Amino acid sequence: MSTHTIRRAKPTDIPELVTIGLEAATAAHWPESEYERIFETGSVPRVALVADSGGQVAGFIVARCIEKEWELENVVVRQEFRRRGLGRLLIQHLLQLARADCAARIFLEVRESNESARKLYSQLGFRETGHRSGYYSHPVEDAVTYEIVIRM
Ligand SMILES: CC(C)(COP(=O)(O)OP(=O)(O)OC[C@H]1O[C@@H](n2cnc3c(N)ncnc32)[C@H](O)[C@@H]1OP(=O)(O)O)[C@@H](O)C(=O)NCCC(=O)NCCS
Repeated sequence: MSTHTIRRAKPTDIPELVTIGLEAATAAHWPESEYERIFETGSVPRVALVADSGGQVAGFIVARCIEKEWELENVVVRQEFRRRGLGRLLIQHLLQLARADCAARIFLEVRESNESARKLYSQLGFRETGHRSGYYSHPVEDAVTYEIVIRM
């Protein structure tokens, strides 16, 4: 099995990020312009990491950092790389960065039926904080909200 490294996303990754996001039905489907904003000065600060497998992007994670409140906006692993621990590794790296940046908490929303992601979040210490009725469209579905407290 090839080795994976977690690194910061670069503007040249954008085409792969768009493709990987669109391939996953339950991921946030951002257009190229939204990924471009990650690298623009003056935009909302974001952290974007990719799991690099021999030069190929196997997965990525994006979080928005509004002062001490971070929001995990998207985490996706390419189908052929799933169940190898990459989703866990990406979130663990994000948690490390949040701790180093003295973030207070990370929150997120996920489709209620997305059991794999919900299991992963719970495993890593996120706790369920509520439901948002009909939050998602195409198809309409409730969101479950989670958070992990980094520091009180
Ligand atoms: C959610 C997602 C990122 C997980 O990535 P992954 O690399 O496959 O996850 P990991 O291999 O790190 O799995 C970690 C844990 O998550 C849970 N998990 C992951 N996939 C699972 C599945 N298909 N069924 C059940 N549990 C699953 C398990 O608890 C797993 O631990 P284990 O392998 O020790 O049992 C991936 O399934 C994905 O890209 N899904 C589509 C996009 C998405 O829905 N993103 C989240 C919402 S924005």
